[in-house]
Amino acid sequence: MTQMETRPSQHVTPATTPSLDGLTGQGVDRTVVIQLRMALLCIVVAVGGGALAALHYLPSCAEWLNGRSLTLTRLRPLHTTFASLWIFGGSLAVMYHYLSTQHGGLDRGDRRRFLFHTVCWLLAGAGIFVSLAAGVLSGREYLDFHPIFSVMLLAGWSAFAWTFLKRLKHGFWAQPIYIWFWTIGTLYFVYTFVEGHSYLLPAVFENPVRDMQIQWKSCGTLVGSFNFLMYGSLGYVGERLSGDRRYAQSSTAFWLFGVGCLNSFTNYAHHTYHLPQTSSVKWIAFVVSMIEVVILLKVMMDLSAAMRKRGTSQFCGRLSWLTAAKWWTFAMLFTSIVISVPSWNSIIHGTQVIVAHAMGTTIGIDTLVLLGTSSWLICEVGGARVMPKIDGALQRHTVRWISGALTVLVTWLTLAGATHGYYRYLGESTPDWVVGSRWVLPVCGGVLGCWLLVAAVRMLRMLSSRPTT
Ligand code: HEM
Repeated sequence: MTQMETRPSQHVTPATTPSLDGLTGQGVDRTVVIQLRMALLCIVVAVGGGALAALHYLPSCAEWLNGRSLTLTRLRPLHTTFASLWIFGGSLAVMYHYLSTQHGGLDRGDRRRFLFHTVCWLLAGAGIFVSLAAGVLSGREYLDFHPIFSVMLLAGWSAFAWTFLKRLKHGFWAQPIYIWFWTIGTLYFVYTFVEGHSYLLPAVFENPVRDMQIQWKSCGTLVGSFNFLMYGSLGYVGERLSGDRRYAQSSTAFWLFGVGCLNSFTNYAHHTYHLPQTSSVKWIAFVVSMIEVVILLKVMMDLSAAMRKRGTSQFCGRLSWLTAAKWWTFAMLFTSIVISVPSWNSIIHGTQVIVAHAMGTTIGIDTLVLLGTSSWLICEVGGARVMPKIDGALQRHTVRWISGALTVLVTWLTLAGATHGYYRYLGESTPDWVVGSRWVLPVCGGVLGCWLLVAAVRMLRMLSSRPTT
């Protein structure tokens, strides 16, 4: 870390004293608290939807749920929509910390736009929840709700993008890498979200191959956009925690950015291996994704080494979230390599191996990193009054249970999915043990969900506790 190469420009935007207008008692803006609360509530809804969806793996429970109209087709999108909203929302809370503490903080226009997008997103969130529960589905992966809610989400996002992008008047090229990640992540979202709705055009809808190609390309970029917001948040919080401003200007950070940008446009090929396309497209996607995961792993290792150098006691347990995320990045690197080899991908396509990969990355990497950054935000909000309430042992215990349950879950999904895919390839029926062990998902998912709820509810309670002075 100390040996790292840095870009010629070492300009770092100086932190200005935050304006007290709209700040909490401890000097953190109310927008950060509201945004973080909404994000943590999304975990609660996602876990609730996931737990009910997981019960569908048990035939008797599935029958009972179907009888009450709680079908998997309704619960799955409810779960994945709120899981994605948590990842976007958790990153936005960190971005609002930056916006409220740099360049004079938030002005009146920024606060009006914050109110506007919060109302838009709350209405859209409530509308999506009710309409999905009522069975109004679009049939699109990650965008499985009525397009009217997409309009509300996009209107809110435009207001947020305005607030963030207008800060670029203070410069872009010499800014730390997190500004680059956040800028591109914000713009990517608009582009990919609009593209994801191209199924509304008859010329796309009536051509299934084109429809699937566009749908998966936009999904790949949508994931790229929330990854970019998360990488930016990790970089920003890492800079604050390590006290080393050079890392956000290092060549490793800029390599992650460059390769991540490229990957956002090539990774869709992982999902379209079964569609007509040349093999070079598949191999480019494979190589670019692998490079991105390797660089991300290096960033995580560098950051945790830098934090450890400063001593762990001052990090209120954030280090345990980030350490676990580092190991998950390592594990996901291995599974990504396996599932991205084109010939193997054709065997596991459409099986639980893909669910294992999606949940392993969104929980093991995105969620653990964002719970770490949320924990940092809570210490910023609560300051000295929160410190005594932080139970380091419980925090480590929570991280261990989440990681342990996720490990069993991902291992079972991978083994069951790979076996199912292999027997499908041979043209034979799936072995009995795969069907007989389906209880692993609701049981381990239940344990995972309980500990995620423990983490989210604890953080919500800490955010609500009143300042003592
Ligand atoms: C914040 C935590 C969570 C995140 C970010 C998350 C993320 C995801 C994602 C991205 C998928 C889609 C996988 C795919 O593309 O096929 C998914 C599916 C699913 N998740 Fe989660 N998940 C979380 C927690 C949970 C929990 C706690 C449970 C169970 C109690 C659960 C149960 C499920 C089920 C049953 C599916 C559908 C599996 C299928 O299609 O067969 N999830 N989750």
